Amino acid sequence: MPKITFITADGARNEVAAKTGETLLEMARRADVEIDGACEGSLACSTCHVVVDDAHFSTLPGPREDETDMLDLAFGRGPTSRLACQVVVTDELDGMAAAIPEPFEI
Ligand code: FES
Repeated sequence: MPKITFITADGARNEVAAKTGETLLEMARRADVEIDGACEGSLACSTCHVVVDDAHFSTLPGPREDETDMLDLAFGRGPTSRLACQVVVTDELDGMAAAIPEPFEI
């Protein structure tokens, strides 16, 4: 069972074990990690933005064009940014770190 460490804007780290077929957003929410995800994964926002570590980023399938378009709107976008609702966790991602670059506001 792969484990992902979420790092929130305040520096808190939360290691979460994934369930098969889960997205990063689903597992973060299950573990009460502070992440927004306003559109519930329909690629209509960028509030689920995460920055993943370099080593694991290269193992991810590339983003679709519509994810890339939404990432253009994300605060603090970096070269290893992804939308958490679009990344399905696989065994290859075990040990990955995913930083949430800003606190969200409700
Ligand atoms: S939750 Fe809106 S794009 Fe991911």
